[in-house]
Amino acid sequence: MATRGGFSSRLGFIAAAAGSAVGLGNIWGFPFEVGQGGGAAFVVIYLLFCFLLCFPVMATEIAIGRKTERNPVGAFTALGYKNWSWVGKMGIVAGILILSFYNVIAGWAFGYIVEMASGNFGIAEQFGEYTKNVIKVGGYGLIFMLSTTLVVKRGISGGIEKAAKLLMPTLIIMILGMVIYSLTLPNAMDGLKFYLVPDFSKLNGSVIYNAMGQAFFSLSLGMGALITYGSYVNRKENIVSAAALITLADVGIAFIAGMMIFPLIGFMSGGTMEGAAGGPGLIFVTLPQIFGTIGGSLGAIVGTSFFVLLCFAALTSTVSLLEVPVTYAVDELKIRRGRAVWLMAGIIFLVGIPSLLGFGYSEFFSTAFKTFKPGGFDTDFLSFIASIANDTILPLGGCMIAFFAAHVWKKHNLNEELAQGAPGYMGSFVQKYLNFSVSYLAPVILGVLFILTVLSKFFNINIIS
Ligand code: PFF
Repeated sequence: MATRGGFSSRLGFIAAAAGSAVGLGNIWGFPFEVGQGGGAAFVVIYLLFCFLLCFPVMATEIAIGRKTERNPVGAFTALGYKNWSWVGKMGIVAGILILSFYNVIAGWAFGYIVEMASGNFGIAEQFGEYTKNVIKVGGYGLIFMLSTTLVVKRGISGGIEKAAKLLMPTLIIMILGMVIYSLTLPNAMDGLKFYLVPDFSKLNGSVIYNAMGQAFFSLSLGMGALITYGSYVNRKENIVSAAALITLADVGIAFIAGMMIFPLIGFMSGGTMEGAAGGPGLIFVTLPQIFGTIGGSLGAIVGTSFFVLLCFAALTSTVSLLEVPVTYAVDELKIRRGRAVWLMAGIIFLVGIPSLLGFGYSEFFSTAFKTFKPGGFDTDFLSFIASIANDTILPLGGCMIAFFAAHVWKKHNLNEELAQGAPGYMGSFVQKYLNFSVSYLAPVILGVLFILTVLSKFFNINIIS
């Protein structure tokens, strides 16, 4: 471990891994999924998935990483199962694809800091024009990618850990400040009611299915990001409690992001909650309108703070996404770290260009993107890549990692690694539940989810709708 470097403390690791988990998925994705999924009923299902299924998979990924001190591809080989390294390779591809489009959205958010600070609330109505201006938003994306590169270049403890220790507490303070402010607005309580009082009649197959996908993406699972971070964790650390804390932090921040956003929508809609189901445009269209309604310099301050905190959250996630292919390039391709960072960042930026062009600039990448799906995909390139990476590769990767750990590498080896640094683990309730989840729950549920997604997204066969 000495030559690879590593996290300098338990807190540093937890901050970095929580930083990876907390991102656009929490502050942009979670509220819009809640809005579309009918509010609190979605939240309940989401929480169940996080704790029953995601937490055990997270502990497993970290254990595989720490045991092998390798990237996701090398990890399978180091355990003696080279024929499973395709799972790791798929994870590296997912990391590259996810970062390629994630950076585009982070770039938009970065640009919104400038718009809000200059009081340009009208950007809400011009969002289409904004994303079409590819030189401008591409420039913001480039700045964001450079920031990610500079953090990753400084290494695990000097870059990623330091950035997370600084950004995560700042993020939490800013979000709490925003929550307090939103709760003081008129009709805030209507927003809270929508968010917190479940209406289970709104539950259907696709809500459950989206909740699962959202939980997995939000916790950075299924592509080996936590195998990678785990490979830099000290043998004395308690992985099980760290995974529990990371899950709690991620779920907690998503939950608090809802406490900030739904009261704002309550205020804006005069209590009708119209606009809550605004989908992906919620953050970039609805929120700036709300900041505009607040108006003046207060509106500008609130708006700027919101997008600064969104960018902080995104940055601690983009560094983890970049670290996955970088660790792979260093371990497997024997490329020097400094070089690997620039190389991967450059490749990923280029891969992201079609996603950037797919919001009005290029007709082809915006709407006419057809695949072999009957009837065509008819979606923008970014959503197409997200369907492949988030909705397809992550559940498949998670299913395979859990199955591998429990049935190929074997439970007793997994338990032995998890028990290192966790004295009370063996024989505990947590051990039994973690083992059950990794052996049966996770492989079965994720496997089914993978099959349903492929049928629905690529073949237009919707078994549950
Ligand atoms: N968890 C991040 C978010 O919620 O925004 C996204 C992400 C980061 C997914 C890292 C996967 C990953 F490896």
